[in-house]
Amino acid sequence: MVLQAIQYEPASGSSPPALRVLDQLLLPHRTTYVDVLDCEEGHAAIKQMKVRGAPAIAIVAALALAVEIGTKVAARKLPSRADDVKETIGQRLDYLKTSRPTAVNLGDAVSKLKIVSKKAVIQSGASAESVAQAYIVAAERMLVDDVSDNKAIGGYGARWIEENTVAGKKRKQDQSQQLKVLTHCNTGSLATAGYGTALGVIRSLRAGDMLTQAYCTETRPYNQGSRLTAYELVHDQIPATLITDSMTCALLAREGKNLAAIVVGADRVAANGDTANKIGTYSLAVLARHHGVKFLVAAPRTTIDLATASGQDIEIEQRAPEEVTRIKGPKVAADGQVLVDEGAELISTAAIGIDVWNPAFDVTPAELIDGVVTERGVVEKTDGKFDFTGVFQQS
Ligand code: MRU
Repeated sequence: MVLQAIQYEPASGSSPPALRVLDQLLLPHRTTYVDVLDCEEGHAAIKQMKVRGAPAIAIVAALALAVEIGTKVAARKLPSRADDVKETIGQRLDYLKTSRPTAVNLGDAVSKLKIVSKKAVIQSGASAESVAQAYIVAAERMLVDDVSDNKAIGGYGARWIEENTVAGKKRKQDQSQQLKVLTHCNTGSLATAGYGTALGVIRSLRAGDMLTQAYCTETRPYNQGSRLTAYELVHDQIPATLITDSMTCALLAREGKNLAAIVVGADRVAANGDTANKIGTYSLAVLARHHGVKFLVAAPRTTIDLATASGQDIEIEQRAPEEVTRIKGPKVAADGQVLVDEGAELISTAAIGIDVWNPAFDVTPAELIDGVVTERGVVEKTDGKFDFTGVFQQS
């Protein structure tokens, strides 16, 4: 079975396109897909984090509007003028963009899709249907391109680790040597259209018989690591160990040079390389520097935001206090059996009345990042500075 956060069927005959997302709030204990019929449902699925991860958010938003438009096409309810379809697309995209603020992929998709409909409307013979169709084709393309981009990221990242880390060089020479990697949050098939970014690097290392062990952090407070990354690693039978976020320092001290690298994803990489990613990423980068471990950010170019000069300009999403003070999951019987069928329990884990700060992301300074792995190669600093213009210039 292939893990898929996003299931999409293009329109066929008189049937409109269909979009379903895996409800990640129920993972790892339940596999339930929910239909996304329009932009309101897409917006809600993203805001409630049924779907999450920077690339997945952007793709689901784009496809939610594709379904909404496709449904109108099938029901012959499109506005009659091409220009009105373009206007509606722009307004609906602006609405979808308000679902979550930090990941730039959503804003990037919105800008690119607006350009598609603006270009479609000035084509000779443009009609309401042709503008709608141009939008749907472009949104569907994003789903396909994301998987191939992730596979390229995985390949470049794995090669960089082989060539630039002590463990990588040793293991290349001698297969009895250890090569371990630590990752944070969830950046795999569940956070993207498939394969993943940082988890794609881990998958790629494993496919090349280079990886001996992956470590994933729990990733409090939302537990994307213990619920989602651990689920993907078990699913793919990758040798892996779960640790709490507070164990990372002890792990780096224990593993020494066997730990080749810490590889994380990103929600927004500023022009100078400062990187917003899941809360806890910054502490890992500080730890990596202290222990002489390489620190890599793996992200498609859609996550690099050249319009944002530095991390100071990145809006950090603040989430509900309850994510910190409560935890949800099925009960466990005395014999260890998880009682999934009895539904989920909500458990209080903090003193009632305590004030809570719950930023969903932090910003890792570029200074602490050794490389940004994109689908066009690994960008490293020259004279202490990242320059991403090259990866955008290539065809
Ligand atoms: O709040 P989330 O779960 O959407 O945060 C996800 C992350 O921070 C990921 O590391 C990032 O989006 C990269 S996903 C390929």
